[in-house]
Amino acid sequence: MRIAVLVSGSGTNLQTLIEKLHQDETIGIEIAVVISDRQKAYALTRAKRAGIPTHVVKTRDFENRVDFDAEISRLIEHYTAELVVLAGFMKLFQPPFVRKYKNRIINVHPTLLPAFPGAHPVADTLTYGVKFTGVTVHFVDEGVDTGTIIAQSVVPVLDTDDEESLHNRIQVEEHKLYPQVIKWYAEGKLKIKGRKVIVR
Ligand code: GAR
Repeated sequence: MRIAVLVSGSGTNLQTLIEKLHQDETIGIEIAVVISDRQKAYALTRAKRAGIPTHVVKTRDFENRVDFDAEISRLIEHYTAELVVLAGFMKLFQPPFVRKYKNRIINVHPTLLPAFPGAHPVADTLTYGVKFTGVTVHFVDEGVDTGTIIAQSVVPVLDTDDEESLHNRIQVEEHKLYPQVIKWYAEGKLKIKGRKVIVR
């Protein structure tokens, strides 16, 4: 299965997908392209190092967000990717894009959704004072972090945590869960029943 990975930042999740999926020939999952909305994203360096084609698509180069989405869609089609994997991609898609790729876009989010959606999830988690948080991998729908949940892992919040220490421990779990979910997807193990995803 060919996948497109979309990034905006450091790309530690991308790195894990490169090592655990792309570079393991027994698995049959190829990262066909990495697309970033930020020229400076370190994730682009990681992709290039692994010999994966990269593209930068900036919102400011387009008149509106539908056109921005259309350029990303053009690249996904050009590279014949079946699954769109958001790995720290910090832009929201417009409804036409989400409808076109219904149940073919997945995202990883550093909380137990529906708690703390949005752009500052780990800071919001600490401010609220919850004792447990975690990781959610979900399909992307037209809302903000509201799509059907595929899998979650729990991470305890420690009294001593700051945003960096908590995010680091959450990322350890992201790096286990995200490749696993993509493998399940490729193997056809995910069955969607209403708001529930069953892993067969
Ligand atoms: C990850 O922790 C991911 O959960 C988060 O961005 C980080 C990207 O890290 N995504 C979101 O908050 C999406 N709403 P990475 O660039 O090192 O993979």
